Amino acid sequence: MPKYSILIKGIGAYAPERVVTNDDLSKIVETSDEWIVSRSGIRERHIARPNEATSDMALIACQRAIQNAGMKPEDIDLLIVGTTTPDYVCPSTASVLQRKLGLRNIACMDLNAACSGFIYGLNVATNMLRGGIYRTALVVGAEKITNIVDWTDRTTCVLFGDGAGAVVVTKEILPEITGVLGSSLGTDGSNGNLLMVPGGGTAMPFSEEVLQKHDHFLKMNGKEVFKVAVRVMQQACEELLKRFNITPEQLGLLIPHQANIRIVEAIIERMKLPREKCFVNLDRYGNTSAASIPLALNEAYERGMIKSGDYVLMVAFGAGFTWGANLIKWQ
Ligand code: UT7
Repeated sequence: MPKYSILIKGIGAYAPERVVTNDDLSKIVETSDEWIVSRSGIRERHIARPNEATSDMALIACQRAIQNAGMKPEDIDLLIVGTTTPDYVCPSTASVLQRKLGLRNIACMDLNAACSGFIYGLNVATNMLRGGIYRTALVVGAEKITNIVDWTDRTTCVLFGDGAGAVVVTKEILPEITGVLGSSLGTDGSNGNLLMVPGGGTAMPFSEEVLQKHDHFLKMNGKEVFKVAVRVMQQACEELLKRFNITPEQLGLLIPHQANIRIVEAIIERMKLPREKCFVNLDRYGNTSAASIPLALNEAYERGMIKSGDYVLMVAFGAGFTWGANLIKWQ
């Protein structure tokens, strides 16, 4: 099999127009800007309109990514949408997006790995391009996570925001392998209950009781999730760097999941990475789940923080628990 390089040809992102500040939230739950900033680093987040679906946000991010790649929708032959908040139970958000984007009748699928969805999606696309008939993939992370947030629960509602990001990836045979070098993915389902939406699925079907107990909303044990997040994201980063024989000093940029600045700081401290080698935009977006990494990647790229030849490491963690990292030699 030929040794393909998997290259990111275009990036696009979208965040809804409406910006909600911490002060705005302090009017609906008992909280304060001081508490939210000091515990999470988040200052504001974007929130989708009631009739703005996950696919609507993904559509704009994808159109921008395709345009930035200098391509057309008909060039895409694989679509993977990382999301936990699909438009419908079925059909998949990828199916809806296929129509809205005007793609050919190509392979389209949703991938639910919670906040790690984009990292997983990029790894799946990489292997489908390398090993199969596919040539150009669109990998998306899109989330209307505020739809499953309990707006009466101050321990969770202040943390999340909506958005979408997408990349176009293609394959080329080059003198040496570059682009997406590899990934490290993991799951530990044994503590899945620490971060979940308990009701509304097949295990606890939707009922009056589910509605009353707010079991159709996201529940999280923040303290426990925090500890696991730091540990597994650090491990995924170190395992992947070691596999490719790259030291943290050689990294151009780390793009971590944008959940909490204290989680990010703990990881860079353990990895002994200088702060300027780590990209953060959670102050303006909050935790956008699967959209977090591509939203950050897009912004880092637009700000000129990624140059050709740089090693870029992206790492995420989410419900499941799932986690994963992708290492890219940027072209
Ligand atoms: O996408 C991946 C999944 N998510 C994460 O990665 C999130 C991981 N966890 C976290 O980011 C942090 O644990 C939180 C930001 C959620 C919470 O920070 P913490 O330092 O672990 O705070 P805590 O849960 O221990 O709460 C401290 C206090 C509590 O009061 P008492 O019991 O000490 O009196 C909470 O009731 O802060 C209270 N509290 C709040 N106060 C004001 C909790 N939420 C709020 C709030 N405003 N919004």
